[in-house]
Amino acid sequence: MLRRLVAETHLGVDDLIAPLFVREGIEEPHPVVSMPGVVQHTRASLRAEVARLTSLGIGAVMLFGVPEHKDARGSGADDPDGIVQVALRELRDDVGDSMILMADLCLDEYTDHGHCGLLDASGGVDNDATLQRYAAIARAQAAAGADVVAPSGMMDGQVAAIRDALDDAARTDVVILAYAAKYASAHYGPFRDAVDVEIAGGGDRRAYQQDPRNAREALVEIRADIDEGADIVMVKPALAYLDIIHAARAAFDVPIAAYQVSGEYAMVRAAAERGFIDGDAVMAEQLGSIKRAGADLILTYAAADMAEALA
Ligand code: PBG
Repeated sequence: MLRRLVAETHLGVDDLIAPLFVREGIEEPHPVVSMPGVVQHTRASLRAEVARLTSLGIGAVMLFGVPEHKDARGSGADDPDGIVQVALRELRDDVGDSMILMADLCLDEYTDHGHCGLLDASGGVDNDATLQRYAAIARAQAAAGADVVAPSGMMDGQVAAIRDALDDAARTDVVILAYAAKYASAHYGPFRDAVDVEIAGGGDRRAYQQDPRNAREALVEIRADIDEGADIVMVKPALAYLDIIHAARAAFDVPIAAYQVSGEYAMVRAAAERGFIDGDAVMAEQLGSIKRAGADLILTYAAADMAEALA
């Protein structure tokens, strides 16, 4: 009891955000093999899952869409009938104000080449053309009922472009959660299965994500996003970047989010499946360490399981 009274860190259900995948044109949920316990939802199973998360006390979900058709410009991302927009409208009707609906704002799930932006003639990402796409996606997600849009593509100027677009649409109420310090990490592998993304030519995202060897530039990126109008900033991945979370917490006063990404989740689950570790205990300890480092909000695929364990 005394240990509980003097504990410095408390992980609670209020800290957790559940990332969810919704796939267009499927009849049954599809398990994501590399992420035990995670599925690509149908629209119906997504609604049921969000109802369950609400009853568990989870306060927010982050939606990722998997479109049936991908193309060079990622048309499904801002189509009013695109999978995330349809899902947002349905969920908004279902949950009212009892759940915060967040939408990942990016193009990689929607482009046939798998990059987060539009490509120019030489195959590189065209930053400025991409910003126009992001502005259109922000407007579409806001119109469909998103409370929070979360740009994750790490394009220069993306937060300012989205803030301008939302202002023009008189949607100053929409919150921007910026993936501000996003590293070019090997921990995103299972996510690519979850959203059926293969980066063209076996490429990577090092041109627009951060070098894992560097810490100071993360703070520069975070400051820029706050200056451009981000309300919440995120560090991603979490466990290998606790120092960044800690430094950001000390340097800035806005809420700090951290993303325990697909690979982090998969490592715990896979080791637990083989009986090498106590998965629930390791998960709780890792999420607790992310909180202790200074995160106010944690995105984790274990959100529902943790909520049940904490209840
Ligand atoms: C981009 C995006 C990615 C993740 C979240 N948003 C993929 C990437 O940057 O390569 C990764 C999340 C995870 O691994 O769990 N839309």
